[in-house]
Amino acid sequence: MMTQADKSLHISAMERGNIKDQFKTDVKKGLGDTPKKLQSKYFYDAIGDGLFQQIMTMPEYYLTRCELDIFKNRTVDLATLITNAGTAFDLIELGAGDATKSSYLLKHLIRQNIEFAYMPIDISGNILNVLNEKLKADIPGLPITCLEGDYFTMLKKATKISGRRKVVLFLGGNIGNMEQEEALAFCLELREHLNPGDIVVMGFDLKKNPQTILDAYNDKAGITAAFNLNMLARINRELQANFNIDSFKHYQNYDPLTGACRSFLISCDDQKVSIDEKIISFAKDEFIYMEVSQKFSQEDIQVLANATGFEITCSVTDSNGWFTDSLWVAQ
Ligand code: AVJ
Repeated sequence: MMTQADKSLHISAMERGNIKDQFKTDVKKGLGDTPKKLQSKYFYDAIGDGLFQQIMTMPEYYLTRCELDIFKNRTVDLATLITNAGTAFDLIELGAGDATKSSYLLKHLIRQNIEFAYMPIDISGNILNVLNEKLKADIPGLPITCLEGDYFTMLKKATKISGRRKVVLFLGGNIGNMEQEEALAFCLELREHLNPGDIVVMGFDLKKNPQTILDAYNDKAGITAAFNLNMLARINRELQANFNIDSFKHYQNYDPLTGACRSFLISCDDQKVSIDEKIISFAKDEFIYMEVSQKFSQEDIQVLANATGFEITCSVTDSNGWFTDSLWVAQ
């Protein structure tokens, strides 16, 4: 028999086709722009997922350890805050990944006999398969519905499945992958999908020593470089392109004035790449803008919450003061 989770994992061939078409359209458009850019959400194919899992274990990449510290050591605080009203709820996680951090909270809620359902949303069907298997084994009795796709399409779907109050987790500093205006638009749209009293738990990487930040995205072992280059390899694999991966180099930059940590791939030569009959020319030293990982102050977070219809009830910060999970209530 197929469970709810199994059903939702097997998305139709048509949906699969749409996702691929969108990837192709976005890649061709982004590389046709000046300056050239690619969207960081496309890092996460099976190989990209694996590389990101490696990034999370690197000595330089502090973000995951900091947020894990919060979910391990402040579980009771987090659980108390989100179960406050006592009514049954849906725990929806945007960009759930392998749910390493949230599983501490899930375990605690199940042990406390709290009535809730877990709905992880991720762009990567591959990682949802991993998560589904893992949680089924680790947390028996956890009601889980996996939703593969874009955040808001799937949030809408989640709302159709259940009308219970919502607690939305958006962890890992994923909000940092948006440009400032995008983050604002995102929080506004998120607010529109919620009712007053619904809760958002959002993870923010805080502004800190600039070198510490730069090192986290410019690791000595070159895993972040491989992670970036894998997007070109993915374009080769899925869109029959012919990038010469060896002729691009990863370049990382952190600007303490704006808090933006950005990654680029730089073309080592004049070269041409064909993608689906479109020819794209690169000049030597031309860059592709790959990703922003925005860093925040507590005041930046306050401004973002209040501008988008939320009140901050509480911020839970790791022992270093490097990363914070901010608890917002929809007004
Ligand atoms: C998954 C968005 C939190 O920006 O820190 C890690 C992705 N990119 N190293 C981040 C990433 C390069 C990561 N997030």
